[in-house]
Amino acid sequence: MEIAGQAAIVSGGGSGLGRATAEALNAAGVKVAILDVNEASAAAAAREIGGFAIGCDVTDAAAVEAAIAAARQRHGPARIAVNCAGVGTAGRIVGRDGPLPLDAFRRVVEVNLIGSFNLLRVAAAEMTTLDPLTDGERGIIISTASVAAYEGQIGQAAYSASKGGIVSLTLPAARELARYGVRVVAIAPGLFETPMLQGLPQNVQESLAASVPFPSRLGRPSEYAALVLHLCQNRMINGEVIRLDGALRMALR
Ligand SMILES: NC(=O)c1ccc[n+]([C@@H]2O[C@H](COP(=O)([O-])OP(=O)(O)OC[C@H]3O[C@@H](n4cnc5c(N)ncnc54)[C@H](O)[C@@H]3O)[C@@H](O)[C@H]2O)c1
Repeated sequence: MEIAGQAAIVSGGGSGLGRATAEALNAAGVKVAILDVNEASAAAAAREIGGFAIGCDVTDAAAVEAAIAAARQRHGPARIAVNCAGVGTAGRIVGRDGPLPLDAFRRVVEVNLIGSFNLLRVAAAEMTTLDPLTDGERGIIISTASVAAYEGQIGQAAYSASKGGIVSLTLPAARELARYGVRVVAIAPGLFETPMLQGLPQNVQESLAASVPFPSRLGRPSEYAALVLHLCQNRMINGEVIRLDGALRMALR
């Protein structure tokens, strides 16, 4: 789709990949609603890169419905929705203190998988009501999986399960929404330089970067955002999960 002048919703837009996506969309002339559970970071992003900040917990059905309504009121209905909200909490299934608390597993799946589906379902419902553009296209929904969906490491049972859910959801959602001209795509990033990874000790970051075959460094959030823009513009890409990882295949741990 021609993206200039369209409206978009980016969850997790207050930080990292979501913020870079909001920035790139904004620079391309898209009106961006920045959703984040961290209202202060959403507001700071809107101030610094442009856009409209909305505090929203993606796990809450009513909150996402209200956020999409608020975005519609401000910018008109969104034809682009990008799921970047997520948490990376790690934990062994059997740790020093016994089994992983069930709520810890549940929380990761709740935010990463159910939260992404929550935005997808409400955004899709709105897109189905819009006028068709070229080729009958009405919109696109992009979610963020991870290479951990395929090569989860020790300690990533919950995270990998949540991201595997996004991978598996992509094709049936694309098939179902095809009749409305709504595309559904996911990106599976490798290792990206965002606050999620920057929290790790410097030597761990360096060894992670060295494990990427080429280019042997952490990915830049702007490279993720560039792919989002391309996906919006290229109508033949649909129902697919695209790895963005410099040929990284994660090791056991
Ligand atoms: N950074 C990486 O290397 C990497 C790799 C693979 C996948 N990912 C995925 O990319 C996405 C973005 O990650 P990031 O690296 O930019 O992390 P980040 O921590 O910088 O940003 C995540 C954002 O999501 C928000 N968020 C968390 N829970 C939320 C909720 N319930 N409702 C609304 N917002 C919520 C946070 O407040 C934060 O602003 C995540 O889904 C992550 O799993 C990241």
